[in-house]
Amino acid sequence: MNLLESIIERAKADKQRIVLPEGTEERTLRAADLILSNGIADIILLGDEQSIKESAKKMGLNNIDKATIVNPKEHTKKKEYTDLLVEIRKNKGMTFEKASSLVEDPLYLACLMIKNGDADGEIAGAQNTTGDVLRPALQIIKTLPGVKVVSGAFIMFTQTPQYGENGILLFADCAVMPNPNAEELASIAVSSAKTMQSLVNVEPRIAMLSFSTKGSADHEMVDKVREATDLAKKMDSNLLIDGELQADAALVPSVGSSKAPGSLIAGKANVLVFPSLESGNIGYKLVQRLGNAQAVGPVLQGMAAPINDLSRGCSVEDIYNMVAITANQAIGLKKN
Ligand code: ACO
Repeated sequence: MNLLESIIERAKADKQRIVLPEGTEERTLRAADLILSNGIADIILLGDEQSIKESAKKMGLNNIDKATIVNPKEHTKKKEYTDLLVEIRKNKGMTFEKASSLVEDPLYLACLMIKNGDADGEIAGAQNTTGDVLRPALQIIKTLPGVKVVSGAFIMFTQTPQYGENGILLFADCAVMPNPNAEELASIAVSSAKTMQSLVNVEPRIAMLSFSTKGSADHEMVDKVREATDLAKKMDSNLLIDGELQADAALVPSVGSSKAPGSLIAGKANVLVFPSLESGNIGYKLVQRLGNAQAVGPVLQGMAAPINDLSRGCSVEDIYNMVAITANQAIGLKKN
């Protein structure tokens, strides 16, 4: 069984409630129909019930009746969620008036449902930008205890089985934190290890990437990566991590042993932590496009409940897979 199949099987075995705020969007509806038909998750669609049902009928979808449909404009828990939002954001100037308008925004409503225990995870982004999906999640769900920042990882299924874990690698941060400081970068490394362990089910071997390997260059950007490596080791003394390493030293055994002799990670890394969002986002897209790798994600990590963001160019299959991944994250968080 391949990795995605096993993620899907784990989701089926312990069904989670996944809320899809973009409930009227065509790819979302098609993915929801398949998920319900295959029993991968319980689906909550946000949107006007009549238009969702009409769209489903036009598309010939037969399973949307199994979804729970919640209209953000009128539902029984509106007052409860408004009070909850005021409570969470009262120190940030949230008034009852502002909150009662925000609870009608599906992206806020989805996070409030999760916070209130009415859903286990959320996926959006087929229509909305990353910033719009993330902002309510960062404000309402927030990070896990002890985690500094939320970040976004991609599971990269490459065509190069000689690297990573039989060609599978985790790249982070590719989606959230534009310019992390050393402490934030360390936190991204710790979260990435957990994502690799829980989704790919292998021991993470983390390379903290830079344009320098073990002092080959001197620059404040290199210092940041070195400091982050030390901090990550302090945050989790069991981590298998090394840095700073260039990408070739991280991946290629011969380069690793010549540039970083004695390193347990050089030449064997399966988790690549990039020093900034620029390098991470550009890096994963280059590997995806030029290397023909399948990039699954971004899987948001470090959040107290799983919220995942889609690319606006996503396919029905991307949404389908992401629901299964989100369900796995929810199962993992409940176990810890
Ligand atoms: N982790 C945890 N909390 C965070 C993070 C983070 N990474 N970033 C912001 N926050 C918190 C802030 O502390 C703040 O909390 P508070 O209101 O309770 O004090 C809240 O979130 C809002 O923070 P702001 O900085 O005001 O929010 P802003 O909207 O300006 O920025 C955002 C947050 C949306 C994540 C921004 O950093 C962003 O746009 N990042 C880039 C996203 C992007 O475009 N990625 C590339 C595309 S994705 C792709 O290609 C796959």
